[in-house]
Amino acid sequence: MVKNQLVGEKTLIAFATKGGVTEEAACVIASVLREKQGFEVDVVNLRENPSPDLTQYKNIVLGSGVRMGKWYKQSLKFLENNFQNKNVVLFLSSCTAGDSETHDEAITKYIDDVLAKYPHIKPVAAEAFGGRMKMLGKVVKDNCDIDKIRVWAEEVGKKLT
Ligand SMILES: Cc1cc2nc3c(=O)[nH]c(=O)nc-3n(C[C@H](O)[C@H](O)[C@H](O)COP(=O)(O)O)c2cc1C
Repeated sequence: MVKNQLVGEKTLIAFATKGGVTEEAACVIASVLREKQGFEVDVVNLRENPSPDLTQYKNIVLGSGVRMGKWYKQSLKFLENNFQNKNVVLFLSSCTAGDSETHDEAITKYIDDVLAKYPHIKPVAAEAFGGRMKMLGKVVKDNCDIDKIRVWAEEVGKKLT
């Protein structure tokens, strides 16, 4: 059941994807927040709408894929927004993050080092999940774990207002 939330209290999930995994993750997080926690959630693809109006939202969940050691540029640009008085949550899709041996390395490189450049952002939660890599149309690596994302989204929902 979706709560009838006041204007300015909705949740935005904004994402950038190339291969589709970050969009899948965004949709799973949205359905958990709607169905388990009753949040009113909008999902926005930043390639289609790079500057959504943030005044409607109390909670901002930002997702990005990672390629060649970098976040996608639309998500990086989105970090320049003013998030004052909003809860910010970050998630990434990264094949480095999806392997347990290299997960912590991915957190350091793709979350801690990136956030160091945006000291105004203090996320209430941030996580990097696995991804899916295709070469010449064939899947060469797939460590995407949708169940892990679902469990995380439930915990995140408890921290949001
Ligand atoms: C050309 C290419 C480069 C990649 N480079 C990286 C990388 O540097 N680090 C990493 O963790 N994953 C890397 N990956 C894996 C992506 O993180 C994975 O494909 C993820 O699903 C991307 O998110 P998306 O599906 O939403 O685009 C790369 C994948 C491709 C196809």
